[in-house]
Amino acid sequence: MNYQLQCIECHSLYDPNEIIYTCPSCGGLLEVIYDLSAIDFRKTDECRSVWKYKALLPVNIKPVTIGEGGTPLYRTERLGEGMEVSEIFVKHEGLNPTGSFKDRGMTVGVTKAIELGMKTVACASTGNTSASLATYAAKAGIPAVVLLPGGKVALGKIAQALIHGAKVLNIHGNFDEALRLVREVCDEYGFYLLNSINPFRLEGQKTIAFEIVDELGWEVPDRVILPVGNAGNISAIYKGFKELKELGITDAIPKMTGIQAEGSRPVVDAIDRELAEIVPEANPETIATAIRIGDPVNAAKALRAIRESGGLAISVSDGEIVSAQRDLASVEGIGVEPASATSVAGLRKLVAEGLIDSDERIVCITTGNILKDPTEVVDVCAKPLEVDANIDAVRRAVFG
Ligand code: F0G
Repeated sequence: MNYQLQCIECHSLYDPNEIIYTCPSCGGLLEVIYDLSAIDFRKTDECRSVWKYKALLPVNIKPVTIGEGGTPLYRTERLGEGMEVSEIFVKHEGLNPTGSFKDRGMTVGVTKAIELGMKTVACASTGNTSASLATYAAKAGIPAVVLLPGGKVALGKIAQALIHGAKVLNIHGNFDEALRLVREVCDEYGFYLLNSINPFRLEGQKTIAFEIVDELGWEVPDRVILPVGNAGNISAIYKGFKELKELGITDAIPKMTGIQAEGSRPVVDAIDRELAEIVPEANPETIATAIRIGDPVNAAKALRAIRESGGLAISVSDGEIVSAQRDLASVEGIGVEPASATSVAGLRKLVAEGLIDSDERIVCITTGNILKDPTEVVDVCAKPLEVDANIDAVRRAVFG
């Protein structure tokens, strides 16, 4: 095996077959490190997908896959009208099999669970992780247990977890409480934890970086903007860009730019106040329920990603999120759930505040599909017109 687990704090090394999620000696977060001199990573024209990049994925068995990755990178000229930015792209992760970027992590994470001989997988979730875990567990033929913050998960996501056969627990508490609980449950009952604290899951998600560079002709954008919740994805994507640079395939790393909701912004506060650690937010609140997280478990990795890459972190209001969501849908044909729209809302705010250079080439990540949260969509849109079943009534309705 040409990879190991390493603590990001004390740098202790561990056998990747050990079932550990944090450093047994200091409690720090773990990451997968490779002997890059032994990696045969080639630039090819092969169709993009997570498993195209298997040379840099820590799995040795046949993957549990349903066709994840290979999502489109749209050049969004109309969205950029009026904004002084050279080029804006949107990578629509909502077009993964279960409608979010989590599938990239779960194809690797659930395959790892099988490889390690684990019998049951589990997670806490604001919704998408549970939908994805339930789906990949179904494909792998193993049971999944998911803990949700009761009453705060979008309908489409609950429906997915249920139909794919997970045991779904509505916890009377928020996501941070559900995550603490599932970690205890996994320790106690030997379930395999597939939240983003699991370093193998993040390996799948780093393929977003590989695909962006691959699609841009192996060039690196100046900045990548994405929503931050539990802070795994920004850390994973940064790691992907770093590995490409270390391999000599690219020569730069984009400025990693994280966006949080105003009512749930511990990472933004830590960056603003130059804190070494985040101060958890006890009662996070936002319409973007996917990122309603006050104590992001990967904060230490995310703060490094943002600082080392020269990036930024800002927050946006629920109103700004909804307005970006509408524009993505109505101007570019990109349907996203609210959390996903934070990337574009953040871009607009950064441009308005003069924090982005006009010659930057920017990629915004939209993380989840519009169909995830039908209730929110119906709430923020005008209602359908009620019309009698005759041509006059239809004419009046259409032409006013
Ligand atoms: N966007 C969407 C649509 C999400 O579902 C999430 C996280 C994020 C962004 C933030 O990503 O946590 O890596 O910073 N959803 C998790 C879940 C927490 O349980 O589905 P992150």
